[in-house]
Amino acid sequence: MKVLFAVSEAKPFIASGGLGDVAGSLPAALRKRLIGCRMVLPLYEGISQKFRDEMTFLTHITVPVSWRRQYCGIFELKYNGVICYFLDNQYYFKRQGIYGHYDDAERFAFFSRAVLEIIPYIDFKPDIIHCNDWQTSLIPAYYSRFYAGREGFENIKTVLTIHNIQYQGKYGHEVLGDVAGFGEEDYSLLENDGCVNFMKGGIECANAVTTVSPTYAQEIMDPWYAYGLDSILNERRWKLHGILNGIDTVANDPAADPALPAHFSAEDQAGKAVCKAQLQQELGLPVRADVPLIGMVSRLVSHKGFDLVQCVLEELLCTEDVQVAVLGSGEWQYETFFSEMAAKYPDKIAVRLGFIPALASRIYGGSDLFLMPSKSEPCGLSQMFALRYGSVPIVRATGGLRDSVQDSGDNKGNGFVFEDYNAHEMLHAIRRAIGGYADKEGWAVLRTRAMECDFSWGRSANEYIRLYKQLLKG
Ligand code: GLC
Repeated sequence: MKVLFAVSEAKPFIASGGLGDVAGSLPAALRKRLIGCRMVLPLYEGISQKFRDEMTFLTHITVPVSWRRQYCGIFELKYNGVICYFLDNQYYFKRQGIYGHYDDAERFAFFSRAVLEIIPYIDFKPDIIHCNDWQTSLIPAYYSRFYAGREGFENIKTVLTIHNIQYQGKYGHEVLGDVAGFGEEDYSLLENDGCVNFMKGGIECANAVTTVSPTYAQEIMDPWYAYGLDSILNERRWKLHGILNGIDTVANDPAADPALPAHFSAEDQAGKAVCKAQLQQELGLPVRADVPLIGMVSRLVSHKGFDLVQCVLEELLCTEDVQVAVLGSGEWQYETFFSEMAAKYPDKIAVRLGFIPALASRIYGGSDLFLMPSKSEPCGLSQMFALRYGSVPIVRATGGLRDSVQDSGDNKGNGFVFEDYNAHEMLHAIRRAIGGYADKEGWAVLRTRAMECDFSWGRSANEYIRLYKQLLKG
């Protein structure tokens, strides 16, 4: 079986969030299970020279973008056993950053069209094209409208994975013909709520739609979570599947992570105390082994639950013997709030604004608890990293958080869970966690259970393979 994984970011080449983590590890996990999998992504300016030096130039072709004819260079690089194609067009991709340009619709229409156009030139005719998020959502629509009947393109099945339904690629009607290159007769495929919606087109045309946790697959059929796509997902629920993500357990291993001052594992946790003390020192917090240290590593945006934190953080800091370490950047109101709190309670909370992967590792490794009170969370990977690094998660029961963290109230689970999106429910869960931390023996058992959870790609990769096989049979 041959799978072409089309994606707009992938670690270690370039990444802005969890999508990059998934694309950086799922294709290799598929290959380990003897599934031919290659990946294709844009050759962005931000991809380092080190990788460029290792690439081979295959050929160049011309790609139609509505009435335009655009150059597309095809480069190849083998990384971690996976052949990756990088599609070059400097007009679209020689820019700062990955997304957020005025012509993103055209940039990703180009990329999506190019993924299909390169097939005759790469000596790899896929059985499955696996697309991810709105940036590659036009591929299923292009395939079914323009390629399915063409020689050399027969019998390809398309899968679309939704990593976050909030970002859909929504544009005005003029994008339909002038940019995406569809005719008026195709408007109904892409139209949602009076807009051209790339993700809607993908949902409509893909043979299967997946999302990154079973709970989120249910949630996105509900208007509260779906950002306007609930009706179409309800109509197409027969092809919707929820498959929980995994994480790269080799790149994220507390027994080997070069960012940590000491190493540890579920079997030998001694190094964790060293990591905690060093983290407290690095952040200027009092170095104390006995105080529970709560970590947060996140984009500082409201759907991650920061309005709850803003509401009760001061109450927590004033009433409990606790320390908090925050790393992230995002909305101005939260950045200001945390900076003010750190200035007011320097012995209790430390904040670093930015994206600092090594410090993120040290927070996972050095904290006792990890707070993730998301309003919605398609899968969430941080709670999985936290579990692996022995930082017991406190989460709201939504999406992948619900599917990966179970409350330890019954002496079985691996964390602390609250149901309703309510600041005092969150505070109550944090207090339960602090209470749990005070019971040293009970805590050691809970932390070991947390660290022993297995979120490696094995199970998820097998579920994707089962789905691919089902599509090829049908
Ligand atoms: C998005 C989601 C996140 C998920 C990641 C990978 O970033 O917001 O919950 O873990 O994609 O699928």
